Amino acid sequence: MDFNLTKEQELIRKALAEFTEEEVKPIAAETDRTAQYPADTIAKLFRYGVMGMCVPKEYGGPGADDISAAIVVEELSKQCASTGDIVATHNGLCCGPIINFGTEEQKKKYLPQLVNGKVGAFALTEPNAGSDASKGTTVCEDKGDHWVMNGSKIFITNGYVADIFVVFAMTDPSKGTKGISAFIVEKDFPGFSVGRHEEKMGLHGSPTAEIVFEDCIIPKENLLGRLGKGFNIAMNTLDGGRIGIAAQALGIAEGAMNEAVEYTKGRVQFGRPISKFQNTQFVFADMEVAINAARLLTYSAAAAKGSGKRFTKDAAMAKLFASEAAMKITTQAVQLFGGYGYTRDYPVERMMRDAKITEIYEGTSEIQRVVIAGNVLGK
Ligand code: CAA
Repeated sequence: MDFNLTKEQELIRKALAEFTEEEVKPIAAETDRTAQYPADTIAKLFRYGVMGMCVPKEYGGPGADDISAAIVVEELSKQCASTGDIVATHNGLCCGPIINFGTEEQKKKYLPQLVNGKVGAFALTEPNAGSDASKGTTVCEDKGDHWVMNGSKIFITNGYVADIFVVFAMTDPSKGTKGISAFIVEKDFPGFSVGRHEEKMGLHGSPTAEIVFEDCIIPKENLLGRLGKGFNIAMNTLDGGRIGIAAQALGIAEGAMNEAVEYTKGRVQFGRPISKFQNTQFVFADMEVAINAARLLTYSAAAAKGSGKRFTKDAAMAKLFASEAAMKITTQAVQLFGGYGYTRDYPVERMMRDAKITEIYEGTSEIQRVVIAGNVLGK
């Protein structure tokens, strides 16, 4: 494995680090406090070719590689995990399956839109189908010249701002996972509506909502991939999405550690900066090891994805390790800040709240362990 980033990947990191410092950091606390979708930031990320960055050049995108896509989410998430999440979902969970499974007509129609300002989302989860993703009850009936979808989806990232959704529904409930199909649904299709907006512990700038289908009419040609292959498409897409969440968790962990390093160098107690105490130093040593291990797992999963090999286990390992590291590191960062860490005067409490979701969405830590163990032991 080549451990060096390419010149292009280094340039992308530098550009995103500057963008994050100048455009994201100044509004991150306010975005969290007001739970406001960072529309201006996302508009700029469309202009700079970050939204839709993996869309191939023939469909109007920059055709960036998977490690670059992870780097972008990592850098943004150092200051604002909500922004990282919006980008990761758009790129990995909406552009991804259309690139991988779309027909030529679907790619020509939707990918240029997803590069030029239309926001994407992915709708799999239902109230009674979370970890057990195959048990959704949203149905989509073949009506000859069109489809009709009925049901609802919850916890949909980008839910109330997205224009284009990749949605999973039962086309033959008698067939279990083989009766699930994927569809491309536009927010303007008749019968589509947005339901409840979620109020969450963290990730306040990331718009999460229920979406509802009431006799929603979907054109015949919007079936994504083959009929009955929706579950495989969902799982394959989540393999990619989990690398995005690993990158998000990595960025949150790095952001929290950077804050804690600065703070402990300036905070004097018992006559010296608290960074001079061995307890503080050992905490930073362990944080540094975990962050580097998380980065290696994340980039290595992205490299495996880019090589075209099956990367299910790599993605699960990266997400599991990075998200648990982020939760631990942000908690330790709050501890190093003491009472100040528990206030909104410093960003570490927000980072700790934001880190928690990385252990839950796109497959809980428990589900990642199921996936990893299944790969180790065989089914
Ligand atoms: N890639 C492609 N196909 C896959 C796959 C993968 N990674 N994993 C499984 N499959 C296929 C299997 O090969 C099998 O296909 P065949 O029948 O053709 O052989 C089919 O899928 C069923 O496989 P399993 O029997 O293993 O499926 P299962 O029902 O036991 O579920 C699971 C496995 C790993 C638990 C899965 O349900 C899972 O990942 N659950 C977590 C769901 C999840 O991550 N949800 C996140 C929602 S999205 C989100 O959070 C984003 C947001 O916007 C907030």
